[in-house]
Amino acid sequence: METSDISKEIKHLVDSIRYYNACYFQKGISPISDYAYDQLVERLTQLEQAYPHLKLPDSPTEVIGEYPSKGFKVVYHQTPMLSLAKTYSEKEVEQFIIRVKKMVPNGTIDFICEPKIDGVALSIHYENGHLVGAVTRGDGEKGDDVTRHVCQCLPLPQKIQAPPSASFEVRGEAFMPKDVFTELNRMRKAKGEALWANPRNITAGTLKSLDVALVKERPLAFYGYSFYASSYMCPTQEAALALLVTLGFSVAPIYKVCTNITEIMDYIHYWAEHKQNLPVDVDGIVIKVNNLDQQHRIGITSKSPRWAIAYKYQPAMAYSTLEEVTFQVGRTGTITPVAHFRPISLAGTIVGRASLHNADVLAKQDLHLGDKIFIEKGGEIIPQVVGVDFSSRKKTSKPVVFIRQCPACGTPLHREEGTVAYYCPNKQQCVSQLKGALLHFAHRKAMDIHTLGPKTIEALLQAKLVQNVADLYILRYESVHALEGFQALSTQKLLTNIEASKTKPFDSLLFALGIKHVGETVAKKLARHFRSMERLQQATQAELLQVPDIGEKIVQSILDYLQDPYQKAIISGLQAAGLQFALPESVEVLWPLSSKYFVISGTFQMVTRKELTKLIEAAGGRVLSAVSAKVHYLVAGSKAGPSKLAKAKQWGIPILEENDIIKMLP
Ligand code: IVH
Repeated sequence: METSDISKEIKHLVDSIRYYNACYFQKGISPISDYAYDQLVERLTQLEQAYPHLKLPDSPTEVIGEYPSKGFKVVYHQTPMLSLAKTYSEKEVEQFIIRVKKMVPNGTIDFICEPKIDGVALSIHYENGHLVGAVTRGDGEKGDDVTRHVCQCLPLPQKIQAPPSASFEVRGEAFMPKDVFTELNRMRKAKGEALWANPRNITAGTLKSLDVALVKERPLAFYGYSFYASSYMCPTQEAALALLVTLGFSVAPIYKVCTNITEIMDYIHYWAEHKQNLPVDVDGIVIKVNNLDQQHRIGITSKSPRWAIAYKYQPAMAYSTLEEVTFQVGRTGTITPVAHFRPISLAGTIVGRASLHNADVLAKQDLHLGDKIFIEKGGEIIPQVVGVDFSSRKKTSKPVVFIRQCPACGTPLHREEGTVAYYCPNKQQCVSQLKGALLHFAHRKAMDIHTLGPKTIEALLQAKLVQNVADLYILRYESVHALEGFQALSTQKLLTNIEASKTKPFDSLLFALGIKHVGETVAKKLARHFRSMERLQQATQAELLQVPDIGEKIVQSILDYLQDPYQKAIISGLQAAGLQFALPESVEVLWPLSSKYFVISGTFQMVTRKELTKLIEAAGGRVLSAVSAKVHYLVAGSKAGPSKLAKAKQWGIPILEENDIIKMLP
């Protein structure tokens, strides 16, 4: 690269970082994800190290934050509120451990791992046991006096009976618990107000709000992580956290003292998987030297302590640019708008698409092409668009409009009464719906025709050899072989697979039909209850409602399907082909775990606890949380609870390993 290009890039990076700093530190908003921000800072640091002569005076890499905001009294911190060195790499955590160990020769070092709370750093001051002040981190040297705010919205001890020192300071993180955030956003949504992008933004927004009355309505929480007093010193960080608890503060309760890198990595990995279950957003793990004397000896740099590092998880939320919105036609005709954006890294995977759900959600979000959007990967696998940065919208940008005609066949869309979904009514000819229905039919958990993939389906549809799932069973070798790309072997394989699918049991077939709201489990329940298609077809609404866990919505959908002449013709076609329209006499094998009680403990290699629970329930078993005499099996993974194991042994309850339970599943 030419020097002038590097200068330009440095200038650009400095401007962007300054802009984002100002947004975050002065307005309490973050138009860019933490991850993307860190990438910018890292790139700037790299360039400045490689080309020190091009480094700008006052570079943001030298300043911790930005300057305090208007409308607040500025307070200088007694000791600077430092930042933490951060990394997204496990290797760098290892290097940190090795580096620190070298700095304390002959001494053993313990580390303490704490969650990195994604909130707003505060310093709280006490004099003679009374809360006298609360200050934000600001630029690290001086921050805003937010004492009034804090007294309104944070549950902090106002008066401490036996203070360890006449004056002391507690530092920690203010945050909004996730459930409070969800509830506030739910209320905003109901009122048609714009939603907050994440709990950290609302925390910052609340603490920066000039309207103190509003602050009252925003209950925040606080986890302390440091204790400073001139006349009292804790020996370790662990002791400091314990002291904070004694004084009446909350601390993140999951901290752990670790003695080696393996324990630290185990902690990092464990919480990567389980942090969603915590009541607060955790964006990483802070690893600190536990002994405060050793911390002191290791020292600090101008920005951050050398005795700590923050390992940050890949973000579950990121920021990108909306490039296009397309409309997908599902197998039942439902239209789903899909956002296409510049691909970004989200929780470890690259994503470029997110569902926009339906016309109502799309309208509420008021998206324009070219918008800067926030994308989040929450508990769901599919990423969601959770917000728009309206401030960066170009005036000329075009709003996204919901289509009125099916993008696959051009048929005018209908809106289902009482629902938010638009659908294409042309189920007999709409190629997208036919393709979806065939793909679903061939699915591993349905008829398991693995040679019937999207390309084959397209070829068959295009040649009009197949127009519905029943046509699969009248396909002839010659006509398939005549299609382009179908060799003798592949044709034979396809036909053999189709033939073999005729033996799939009734419950799989019922699922394969693709009746709306009839998933695998509902299909199993229906098959088991009615035992044959004939009896299912004769069932009244009241009879259908007697099937366990089947409500009115599912029942209506089943009745609509079974009464539809088009679907009736398909069922007749499948019956003529000899598919399994009834369960054999003995079906207990379908429900191998029926009326068995399970308790699951620990973590597993092949499945998550949630998945295992679902699998057991789908096989008829029940999963309980505590081991009691009525439990039939304890499924124990690694790190299973010792008391659960002990109880199981005491009551002679068989303990299953992951492999054992998987073998028992259908
Ligand atoms: S210790 C001198 N511990 O992360 C180091 N910080 O970049 C002081 N944070 O804004 C920080 N959780 O407020 C520490 N368990 C934790 C933390 C934590 C969140 C925040 C801190 C600061 C940022 C550091």
